Amino acid sequence: MNTIYFDSPVSDEVRRIRIYDGQLFVFSPRPSTLAFCAFARELIEASFPGLDPQTAQYHMPVEKYAAILGELKPAFIHHPQSKAFLRDILSDLGFDLEKTYFDVPRMRSSTSDDYLTSGIAYAWHPHRDTWYSAPACQVNWWMPVYDLESENTMAFHPRYWSQAVPNTSGDYNYAEWNRLFRPNAAQHIKEDPRPLPRATVPVELEPQIRPICPVGGVLMFSGAQMHSSVPNTSGRTRFSLDFRTVHLDDVVAGRGAPNVDSACTGTTMNDYLRGTDLSHIAPEIVALYEAGRPVSNAAAPHS
Ligand SMILES: [Fe+2]
Repeated sequence: MNTIYFDSPVSDEVRRIRIYDGQLFVFSPRPSTLAFCAFARELIEASFPGLDPQTAQYHMPVEKYAAILGELKPAFIHHPQSKAFLRDILSDLGFDLEKTYFDVPRMRSSTSDDYLTSGIAYAWHPHRDTWYSAPACQVNWWMPVYDLESENTMAFHPRYWSQAVPNTSGDYNYAEWNRLFRPNAAQHIKEDPRPLPRATVPVELEPQIRPICPVGGVLMFSGAQMHSSVPNTSGRTRFSLDFRTVHLDDVVAGRGAPNVDSACTGTTMNDYLRGTDLSHIAPEIVALYEAGRPVSNAAAPHS
């Protein structure tokens, strides 16, 4: 990877080719994204009455804080309005709703000073989403809900776009993991026993890139991109929204980022909902992704 495109006017097709080539896209706030952030803020602030959600962690025991997030996050994910906001954003940014599928949006939080870093507020170690059964054509979206700082955002680790990292993804199957662990996230306050794939050698975190966009700004990147949560030392909890999209033409054609080191099985393909009618991708297409995919040594041409 070598380029960050700001407010690029290219078509979605060109954008996807560049994202599969490891490039990053950043978009300025626009009415559709600001509306989504305002909606998220309303839900967050209602969960912490009388407190600033960015500093609420300093005013309650961690067990209570985790319980609040345990209600807030699912409520946001499953709120009927959340999907409507996503559709508005996709249209706004030139995505074809007939062929673009999205998964439900997630709300993430990163508390400061190691207050809560497991379970419902998992601090993401360096990873690729493709280690967790995401397809090669997955596009990740990420938006801050409050003003970001370098000390509480997320980081990209560009050297690993084309460099393999030994990892445990070969032990991971998406359906199996969901069956065993997904319902229990809010219980894991001190440590996290869920065996998520991770690197088995130290990942060199530098060089790294931390794009800082305003509230309502969007980062867009490949699910194969190595990224992590920055250890939060800002004194303020970061709240962010993220979701993922795939384009049906790429799903069918098997297009996407090169696979340098993912060995997981299973697929998230059945999670995506069509922009128009929220239908799932056809089961016979989803089935093509169940076995995972071979590692290719073909690095992206411009990385
Ligand atoms: Fe991720």
